[in-house]
Amino acid sequence: MSTPAVLTQTAVETIAWTPEGVVMIDQTRLPNETSFVTCRTHTEVAEAIRKMVIRGAPAIGVAAAMGVALGAQKSQNLEADMPVICETLAKTRPTAVNLFWAIDRMRGVYEANKHLGPDAVRARLIEEAQHIREEDIAINEAIGRNGAPLVPDGKTVLTHCNAGALATAGYGTALGVIRAAVEMGKKIDVFADETRPFLQGARLTAWELQRDGIETTLITDNMAGHFLKSGRIGCVVVGADRIAANGDVANKVGTYSVAVLAKENGVPFYVAAPISTLDLSLESGDEIPIEERAGKEVTHMRGVAVAPEGIKVANPAFDVTPNRYVTAIITERGVARAPYTESLRKLAG
Ligand code: MRU
Repeated sequence: MSTPAVLTQTAVETIAWTPEGVVMIDQTRLPNETSFVTCRTHTEVAEAIRKMVIRGAPAIGVAAAMGVALGAQKSQNLEADMPVICETLAKTRPTAVNLFWAIDRMRGVYEANKHLGPDAVRARLIEEAQHIREEDIAINEAIGRNGAPLVPDGKTVLTHCNAGALATAGYGTALGVIRAAVEMGKKIDVFADETRPFLQGARLTAWELQRDGIETTLITDNMAGHFLKSGRIGCVVVGADRIAANGDVANKVGTYSVAVLAKENGVPFYVAAPISTLDLSLESGDEIPIEERAGKEVTHMRGVAVAPEGIKVANPAFDVTPNRYVTAIITERGVARAPYTESLRKLAG
């Protein structure tokens, strides 16, 4: 991975396919520094996903698709290399199902077009990866349109982690709903949980909403209950990494606590996610693999130790919110409500 001098646009793009390679905004350096990395091989893309240079379920999916296209571009023996390329990308992060969904889709395009010869199939893979990126933006705008009517006017929306433009190809899922509500003329503001330990709320959600001029207040995660009880929060909107057939939702660790607190205080709890985040092969959230990340993310902040050396650490990156806490799941095809086993299957078609 190297840092390019390219991409001097005003609207920051999360990820782009360029003649030099796959260019991503470096989310590990925001908000202090707006810099970009260029991945020139599929292994560099895999490394960027693992290190969370790019993160957020839909963005990981787009990156993986572009990674497959890059790998194919460099390969002299596609038939032998395709499984290795796909496997390398699939091993990066286990929870976000969009990663596997995107790789499967690219594998399908390869299988359907390999009879055309290596050059044609490489071109088709690049085209498909770019299509997945563009499609994602359109999907998020549709999620926004479907979700905006649910957001109470004149109230505050609480969100956890970053399910925004940075977590997708653009516009965002949960933040897409917020953006669409603002575009509809609703007078809302946002409370953003800082989201320990990786600080996606403080570093990324606060950054992108501030850039958009959407009034945002940053709170630490342990303040959520206090504000949910206060009556000022009209609803909670979060994203998702994987949704099981029964509507159980895996999302950034801490989401479950917010959902329980929301129910306790009668505040609607909405999940905004594309259909590609549904994993109907899993009956319940108990089957969702939860990524365990390095303890250093908890013991250190920006390289500075905040805990004694040698302390034992647990760092699950996600938790599962049981469906009974989820008021509705907002997708590009419509809004699903309980019983989710029926409503999600209907939407998935
Ligand atoms: O570990 P991360 O930053 O990839 O986790 C991101 C989240 O949990 C998001 O809420 C989720 O991926 C949805 S993004 C539209």
